Amino acid sequence: MDKMWSGRFSADASSLLERFNASIMFDQKLYREDISGSVAHAQMLAHQGILTSDELASIELGMTQVLGEIESGAFEWKIGDEDLHMAIEKRLTSLIGDAGKKLHTARSRNDQVALDFRRYVLRKNSEIVIQIKSLMGVLVDIARDHTQTILPGMTHLQHAQPINFGFHMLAYVSMFKRDVERFESSYVRNNISPIGCAALAGTPHNINREMTAKALGFDSVSINCLDTVSDRDFALEILFNISTLMMHISRLAEEIILWSSYEFRFVELSDEYSTGSSIMPQKKNPDVPELLRGKTGRVYGNLIGLLTVMKGLPLAYNKDTQEDKEGVFDSIDTIEMSLEILGEALKTMTIKPENMAKACKLGHLSATDLADYLVSHCDIPFREAHHITGRAVARAEALGIDLSDIHYNELHKIDNRIEENVMAHLAISHSMNARISQGGTAQVRTLEQVVYFDNYLKEIK
Ligand code: ARG
Repeated sequence: MDKMWSGRFSADASSLLERFNASIMFDQKLYREDISGSVAHAQMLAHQGILTSDELASIELGMTQVLGEIESGAFEWKIGDEDLHMAIEKRLTSLIGDAGKKLHTARSRNDQVALDFRRYVLRKNSEIVIQIKSLMGVLVDIARDHTQTILPGMTHLQHAQPINFGFHMLAYVSMFKRDVERFESSYVRNNISPIGCAALAGTPHNINREMTAKALGFDSVSINCLDTVSDRDFALEILFNISTLMMHISRLAEEIILWSSYEFRFVELSDEYSTGSSIMPQKKNPDVPELLRGKTGRVYGNLIGLLTVMKGLPLAYNKDTQEDKEGVFDSIDTIEMSLEILGEALKTMTIKPENMAKACKLGHLSATDLADYLVSHCDIPFREAHHITGRAVARAEALGIDLSDIHYNELHKIDNRIEENVMAHLAISHSMNARISQGGTAQVRTLEQVVYFDNYLKEIK
């Protein structure tokens, strides 16, 4: 009968219940937040005259020792202690005696876990932002070097119009910038202190929530305690933000997988970040991007999992909520590793402009340029120009060549308004550089985008 809550019980918990009920196996990850949160709470209690300064001093000293024990691996995490909150408080009390028993005044595990978990999520939120920015930097570096590396831009996975590889990389940088903004806005929205809400209704003790909030770096104090102890929106937000980020990563991963195939050969992953086959000696497999794509599924599952746990829960705290942590920990661990390995794989990846250039000679990439030429040089309405170009493409197909290699006479035969100066328009690099509208692929526009993202990364560093 050594449980903190065993006062009203006359029989010990079964060991099956202990295992079923406990969260200590996974919530020990929150030890830093739990200890610093407790110390801030104790300091506030002392300031308010609820603890003496001697009691506070021994709590602070005791907590320093507990922290040391945890970090050195000496701390004993026992399933019977149920969760980290009780394990740490129990150890504190065994070290310092009665002062330890006063720490939980004006507090409940409900606001305590809400505090610890929220602070963990906020800390990870900031760490993930730093990692995304460094990945963006890797992509911007690649983009800067490849504004003249032309590859087929696709729609429907069919050759559409030529674009440069830098422009393609910057599409992902744009996605990751939105991800950064999402994490940042979640941080601001959720940087609100839950501590002092106690079990659900507040406390009769004369506490100072503002003081604890300030000490812990929160912007403000939550408004309604009943909501606060059962709110897990902050956890859902990070799960959603990670899911969206992983979705972006999986799209890039998919392209790297395609580009690494013999059909494309646009890139080659370094040996360091490729794997072999146990049976086929010739193989070099893109396991890294495949796993990035695959892990995205599990990350989505964590989001749906917590949404489902929260669905229909009556106010306020329910033990269901203990199920909030493992998925969040898993998604955070996954995104941290994913961002790191993706950056390394990209840095060491070989880009093959010659294979991209070859692919640009397939699929009549400059067909739109012929139509645009007919519009601007021959004053032909676009719909009609589209039709004439279709005939030119059919002719090139019949000749077994790409439209960019067709002889001018062939085009003149299809429509005598076409003049010899058309040929410059059909060149692949001309086609890419012609797309000069704001945000377009033309080299000058791509370089503008490089500068934009460079400045963005400088400002926010
Ligand atoms: N381990 C619990 C959790 O993670 C802590 C809060 C428990 N509160 C309670 N009233 N049983 O949710």
